[in-house]
This record gives sequence, C-alpha cells and structure tokens, in this order.
Amino acid sequence: MSTSIRTFVRTTLDLGGATLHPWGREPAGPELLDGLVAAAADPTIALWNPLATADHKAARTWLEAREDAWDRGTGAPFAVLSATDGALLGTVNLRWVDRADGLAMIGYWFLPDARGRGLATRATRAVTTWGFRTAGVRRVELAHAIGNEASCRVAHRCGYLLEGTLRESHLFGDGVHHDEHLHARLATDPEPRP
Ligand SMILES: CC(C)(COP(=O)(O)OP(=O)(O)OC[C@H]1O[C@@H](n2cnc3c(N)ncnc32)[C@H](O)[C@@H]1OP(=O)(O)O)[C@@H](O)C(=O)NCCC(=O)NCCS
Repeated sequence: MSTSIRTFVRTTLDLGGATLHPWGREPAGPELLDGLVAAAADPTIALWNPLATADHKAARTWLEAREDAWDRGTGAPFAVLSATDGALLGTVNLRWVDRADGLAMIGYWFLPDARGRGLATRATRAVTTWGFRTAGVRRVELAHAIGNEASCRVAHRCGYLLEGTLRESHLFGDGVHHDEHLHARLATDPEPRP
C-alpha cells in the first residue's frame, strides 16, 4: 500500500454520549483552552503524559501542532468532547511511526472527572478500528510505564496484547526513565470482546 493511500482523513466519530473530534484551531473556544490548561495541571497526566498547555497561549500553540499533524498526514489527534455540552473529556492520538510500513502508535489521556466510566476504553477502541479500516494501519503499538496500571487495563480492554518490557525506555514527568510495557494490536487480530 502506498503512503498516499495511508492517509488519516479528518472525521468525527460518535461514541454515544461523547464525540471524537479532530483537534485543530477549531473548535478552540475559551472552555476548551481551559480544559487543556486543567489537563496539564492534573498530577496523573503530568506524571504519565506531560502536556505543554500550561496557559491559553501554550494551548493555542499545542493546537497548531495538532492541526499541522492532520494537514501533513503524520497523525490523527482526536479531542473527546461531551455530546451534551461540548466540554473537553480527553484525547486519543494515533500517529505514524513508519507510515510506509503501516506502523502506528496510540496514546491517550482523560480529565479526572471523565475517568472510571470506560470512556478511555471505548474511545481507544474506536480510533484503533477507524485506523485499521480507513487509513491502512497494519500494526498499532501502545506503550505505558509499568506503574501506570490504568493504562495497562485500557490496553488489555482494547485488545492490545502485551509483547514485552522496554527497559528504562521513556522519560516521564517525574524525571525518571521508567520501564514500559509494549502492547500491540494487528489489523488481523480479532476484535476484543465488548
Ligand atoms: C489511563 C487513563 C486514560 C484511563 O482512563 P479511565 O477513564 O480510568 O479508563 P476506563 O474507564 O476506560 O478504565 C479502563 C480500566 O482501567 C481500570 N483503572 C482505572 N483506574 C485505575 C487505576 N488507578 N488503577 C488500576 N486500574 C485502573 C478500570 O477499572 C478499567 O479496568 P476494567 O475495565 O478491567 O474494570 C486515565 O487514567 C488517564 O488519563 N491517566 C493519565 C494519563 C495517562 O496515563 N495516559 C496514558 C499514558 S500511556
């Protein structure tokens, strides 16, 4: 498959109660910028997925980079928004590691109030399936610090098999290189159980 066929095309995915919307300059009202600032200040996100969105100016720069990823076809970053009031709940990001080879990586974070109701699992499943079906993704990798049990559960729930341990592979928000679990899902793997 050629890289021109392996393209992430901006789309909106309906999860029922929440919507996955491509990140970009739009929508970027003050509430959404506040949500990004709150995400950066959350200690769990700051530890496992530090965000450079400490204020509105930084959040706008962050949004420009997401817009650019869609424009250049290097990534598919989605905002997860409440279907009722459009409030920011979290994010799921699928991006190419090797586009020519169909190898991608997925990541996510959710605001504290949105956690613990299966939303991260449903959103990550939806983006994974979308990548396989529409963008020619062949394999998606998911890595998380071994101490991040919630992320490990999301990976399992979404059908990402544990393939091994990467030693001191990533620098996290506490300034420590943690060991990570490497999980992955292939386009040919069966859909995980609901
Ligand atoms: C990881 C994260 C997205 C999970 O969000 P969530 O809303 O709790 O996820 P879900 O509701 O879909 O729950 C998924 C599973 O995690 C489990 N879980 C949630 N919090 C947990 C915790 N602190 N410890 C252990 N398991 C936990 C849930 O019980 C559920 O497992 P189950 O389906 O077997 O019962 C969220 O904790 C987060 O944003 N963390 C900070 C950023 C981050 O870690 N990003 C990932 C970097 S790799």
